[in-house]
Amino acid sequence: MPTWIDVAATHELMPGDKKILVHQDRAIAVFNLDGQYYAIEDSCSHHALPLSEGKISGDVITCPFHGAQFCLKTGKALCAPARTDLLTFKTRVEANRVQIAID
Ligand code: FES
Repeated sequence: MPTWIDVAATHELMPGDKKILVHQDRAIAVFNLDGQYYAIEDSCSHHALPLSEGKISGDVITCPFHGAQFCLKTGKALCAPARTDLLTFKTRVEANRVQIAID
């Protein structure tokens, strides 16, 4: 059974917005892509640098450091120099609060 962690009110995370939180020393980035929420580790699998400042196109984020790309929906590493996928986290909305599941 996952633990649901509160991220933000829905009005604080509008389409195109993101929020970064730290849970148990792990940075997690939560994105609103066209009204759907996605959460992914905020640590590029290439050199463990923050990914969340990267440019987003559709559901793909490009790492601002060396250009690796990841799918925000699945965490899949899409190109070099990253070779390892990132963790993703389930999301939900409860009482107008965006939440993510931590196993
Ligand atoms: S740290 Fe992201 S591609 Fe190098």
